[in-house]
Amino acid sequence: MLDSGAAILDVADLKTVFNTRDGVVHAVNGVSFSLAPGELLGVVGESGSGKSVTMMSLMGLLPSPPAEIVTGEIIYDGQDVRAMKPEQLRALRGGQIGFIFQDPMTSLNPVFTVGFQLMEPLRVHLGMNKKQARARSVELLELVGIPDAASRLKDFPHQFSGGMRQRVMIAIALACDPKVLIADEPTTALDVTIQAQILELVKELRQKLGMAIVWITHDLGVVAEIADRIAVMYAGQIVEHAPVKELFRNPQHPYTQALLETLPKVEGARNERLLSIDGQPPNMTRAPQSCEFAPRCKYAFERCRRENPVRVDIGNGHDVACWWDVHIDGERHAG
Ligand SMILES: Nc1ncnc2c1ncn2[C@@H]1O[C@H](COP(=O)(O)OP(=O)(O)O)[C@@H](O)[C@H]1O
Ligand SMILES: [Mg+2]
Repeated sequence: MLDSGAAILDVADLKTVFNTRDGVVHAVNGVSFSLAPGELLGVVGESGSGKSVTMMSLMGLLPSPPAEIVTGEIIYDGQDVRAMKPEQLRALRGGQIGFIFQDPMTSLNPVFTVGFQLMEPLRVHLGMNKKQARARSVELLELVGIPDAASRLKDFPHQFSGGMRQRVMIAIALACDPKVLIADEPTTALDVTIQAQILELVKELRQKLGMAIVWITHDLGVVAEIADRIAVMYAGQIVEHAPVKELFRNPQHPYTQALLETLPKVEGARNERLLSIDGQPPNMTRAPQSCEFAPRCKYAFERCRRENPVRVDIGNGHDVACWWDVHIDGERHAG
């Protein structure tokens, strides 16, 4: 299923739980994906589907306890990330893999100037002196489209508007020329116009710098414009995965189909509340033993309530975890 030949990031069967006082939360239940250099993978799923925990697990960003990576292989550029020492992991995070989060106010430090926060990784990870780091910081702010870059280095995060803060976050994430950028709902908190500008900026930067990107969102419409491939998550699992055009043309999983139906048909209507899918969100306090979507699925039959479907390759780089598909078309993939 995985084409790991030339992958810059390869994740296999990742399982992450939280051991809480109220029991075990099964946040990530066997996630596998690979990312080729320069590629943009969109990860889509409703709130609570395990998108953030997956990405935080990859980089060792979850506090343990309560988080625990139960199994999984995480290979970055041929190196086993799970075997890395804390300082190697820190170097990887700040240097080769950049992060952007939804809310820059919580990830930018309010008590340090933007200049300091840009220069710090350059000095720590790239060993630049102050002068070099300052020059590079100005370059970076210019790169992400912040006017008067040189004079803004001394400003604090709260002196920037929401959209500009998000640009600062992107500049910091790009500071050390990462090969991979992980963007976790980076435009969700922004209004539609700014959101569009940030998307445009990321498209541009990607062309210019050629890094691979994992773009996480609950809004399929957002990634449709920029992704090469999309992975759809439900209940801590990837339930469908395909090149973006293929996914839109030929969605197989009933959850993906429902997501597509909730997309606003009118351009520009995106910021309106998305229609929700009927039924309860999945119960994460047990490991999946059946198809977790079955209770909300109009096609569910007996097998779905008994056995958790695995991802089956159906050609065109497309795979899907659904018994219904196998049921109605046993010839194509006798499962
Ligand atoms: N610190 C935590 N303790 C317990 N459960 C958590 C914690 N963080 C996240 N979870 C649970 O893990 C699941 C996945 O969360 P998350 O990855 O944040 O979802 P998403 O990013 O897709 O919205 C959710 O059920 C969430 O409640
Ligand atoms: Mg999240």
